Amino acid sequence: MNMRLLAGGCALAALTLTGLSATADPADDTLVVNGEINMITRTDKAPDYIEGLSEQYSGWHFREDDTRVMQADDFDNPGMLGVEAAQGVWDTADGTEGKACATCHEGAESMAGVRAVMPKFNEEKGEMYTMEMYINQCRTERMGAEAWDWDSADMVNMTALISSVSRGMPMNVAIDGPAAPYWEQGKEMYYTRYGQLELSCSNCHEDNYGNYIRADHLSQGQINGFPVYRLKDAKLSSIHNRFKGCIRDTRAETFKPGSPEFIALELYVASRGNGLSVEGPSVRN
Ligand code: HEC
Ligand code: HEC
Repeated sequence: MNMRLLAGGCALAALTLTGLSATADPADDTLVVNGEINMITRTDKAPDYIEGLSEQYSGWHFREDDTRVMQADDFDNPGMLGVEAAQGVWDTADGTEGKACATCHEGAESMAGVRAVMPKFNEEKGEMYTMEMYINQCRTERMGAEAWDWDSADMVNMTALISSVSRGMPMNVAIDGPAAPYWEQGKEMYYTRYGQLELSCSNCHEDNYGNYIRADHLSQGQINGFPVYRLKDAKLSSIHNRFKGCIRDTRAETFKPGSPEFIALELYVASRGNGLSVEGPSVRN
């Protein structure tokens, strides 16, 4: 891992300024949720189209022992409170059509597999759609209900419920066909240096995972665990909210949750995790 440090160049100088220090290996541990869902939290080989990674690690490996343990049991995982709340919403009619999610989709288990392929190209709409967009499409066009804000509790809880029924399944987003231009855009963003610190996502999450930045053990910045319950905020956090925070940390103006830029970036980052299990809702600090 120290070899990657040498490759950093000016980014390394910037990182040193922001407090980069010692390396520690990702925890050598395995995650089995509720004693029955075996999670793929690491692989020895990243997909071929990801040039800068030879191995994949879920962010779970970089958290402290007690944080990792919380995610292994639904009774200890505080993110499951959001899942429960969404279960109530799932069954409740809303909007002018008097329909609930359950009217058309039966149980939330009918969503098994959906999280693993999000975001995906929505043929009907002719654009890349994240899970939030599919949910709002149903609310506005099929229920006659108001769209939920991207980072509202209702929305993040619902994405947690829909993710939870795919736990253990490998992430498998499509990057070819109509998805290709979005993927290219996301990839370019991933390697673009932002802000006064002139740091790209890759400077931290590809060149320096395993190193500490201030008190944080840097992960690969994977999104297979989203939404994540952040102990620091005591709530569930969306993928775009995390992107926003990371860009803000480089002291750059950031994009908005739901913006075309973050949708493209989500597809690219998701593809870096193809093969890792869906973990959401996961627990992070
Ligand atoms: C009036 C019927 C109806 C209601 C009510 C409804 N949906 Fe849908 N939903 C659909 C249809 C039809 C599709 C597109 C076809 C499909 O994939 O099942 C869809 C697609 C989806 C998808 C994308 C699935 C995929 O595989 O791409 C998600 C996620 C979703 N709905 C979530 C919800 C949620 C959450 C609610 C409640 C807030 C809801 N839906 C309410 C009919 C409905
Ligand atoms: C200055 C270094 C830095 C940069 C640049 C940076 N991040 Fe992060 N990121 C962090 C730190 C620190 C954390 C928290 C510890 C961890 O999970 O790596 C984090 C966490 C994350 C997580 C959560 C991972 C998980 O498993 O919970 C994601 C996703 C993420 N970053 C994506 C990005 C993306 C995409 C970019 C580029 C837009 C980016 N980051 C830029 C430092 C950075």
